[in-house]
Amino acid sequence: MSKVTAAITAVGGYVPEYRLTNKELETMVDTNDEWIRTRTGIEERRILKDPGKASSDMAVPAIEAILRKKNLDPKEIECIICATVTPDLVFPATANIISAKIGATNSWSFDLNAACSGFLFALTTGASFIESGRYKNVLVVGVDKMSAIVDYTDRNTCILFGDAAGAVLLEPATDGTGVLDSILKTDGKGCEFLHMKAGGSLKPASIETVAAREHYAYQEGKAVFKFAVVGMADASAEIMERNNLTADDIAWLVPHQANLRIIDATANRMGLPKEKVMINIQRYGNTTAATIPFCLWEWECQLKKGDNIVLAAFGGGFTWGATWLKWSYDTNE
Ligand code: UT7
Repeated sequence: MSKVTAAITAVGGYVPEYRLTNKELETMVDTNDEWIRTRTGIEERRILKDPGKASSDMAVPAIEAILRKKNLDPKEIECIICATVTPDLVFPATANIISAKIGATNSWSFDLNAACSGFLFALTTGASFIESGRYKNVLVVGVDKMSAIVDYTDRNTCILFGDAAGAVLLEPATDGTGVLDSILKTDGKGCEFLHMKAGGSLKPASIETVAAREHYAYQEGKAVFKFAVVGMADASAEIMERNNLTADDIAWLVPHQANLRIIDATANRMGLPKEKVMINIQRYGNTTAATIPFCLWEWECQLKKGDNIVLAAFGGGFTWGATWLKWSYDTNE
C-alpha cells in the first residue's frame, strides 16, 4: 500500500474590512509612510474594530468557507487545531470556542502557541494525525487579532501588525501529494526579544501592569530581524537540500509576512525569482499565525496539483522552520 500523506484539500481565509493605512498611523505616532514602506514593505493592515469580536470570529468564516466548498457537515470534523497568540480568552482554548460556533460537535480541538510559526507547527501536528491513520480529517487554522495586543502609542510595533485568519483542511492522500517534510525549531532564549510582559502566571494582570502598558506585544525589532533573516533562510535552504530540490523544482515560496526584507533574503538564499514568492505584506502587514494559510487562500486559483511549495516562518519563542508540500488539487476540479 502506498504511503499515506496529509493533503491540503481546501483553504479558507478572512480579513476584517477596516483598513489602517500608513497615513492614518502618521496621525497616531511619530512615523511616516516612506519609513514604513521602505523598512517593512507594509502599506496598510486590516483591523477588527468591533469590540465584541475576537479571534474566533475571524476563524469561523475562514473555516465555514472550507465546509461549504467541501460540502462537509461540521459534525464530520474530527479535530481542530488553532494556532494563535491572541486567544479569545486565556482559557478555554479558542479552538474549543470555534468548534462550538461551527457546530463541530464530534471533534476534539486545542490551541497551539508558536507565534508567527504557529501555522507551520500546527500543520505538522495535524499532518501527523492523518499520516498515523488515526484521523480522516483535521482542520488547521491560523488566526490572530493582533490589534488586541498592539500598543498604538509604540511606533516600533504598531506599524507592523494586522488581523486575519487562514484555514486549511487536511485529508489523507496516497498519490504522493501533501505535506512531505518539515524542519521545525525553537529557542526559548529568544523570549527576551519578543514577548508580552504581563497577563501570564509570571506577572498576572494588576493595576500596575496595566499602568505600565505591559499587556502589549514587546519586540526588540533589530535583534529579532537578525535571527529571523538567518533562521528562515537556513530552514528553507536545508529543506531544499535534504529533499534534493532545486530552485527550478519549486513553484512557490510561501513566507511568513513579517518584513519584505526578510522575505527577499529567504527567496535569494533559495535562488527563487520574485514571481515565485507569495507576497501580500503590503496589504495586510504581519498577521502572525494567519499569514501563511491566508496566502495559500489568496493564491489558491494559481496553484496546480503537484506544485512543490515551501512554507517558511520565523517568530516569537523563538520559533522557526520550513515545510515542503506538494499541492493536491487544481482549483477548477
Ligand atoms: O513576525 C515575528 C518576527 N518579527 C520580525 O521578524 C520583525 C523583525 N524586525 C523588523 O522587521 C525590523 O527590525 C523593524 C521593521 C521592526 C524595524 O526596522 P529596523 O530597520 O530594524 O529599524 P530600527 O528598529 O533599527 O530603527 C531604526 C530607526 C531608529 O531611529 P534611530 O535610533 O536610528 O534614530 C528608530 O527609532 O528608525 C526609528 N523607528 C522609526 N521611525 C519612523 C522605529 N520605528 C519607526 C517608525 N517610524 N515606525
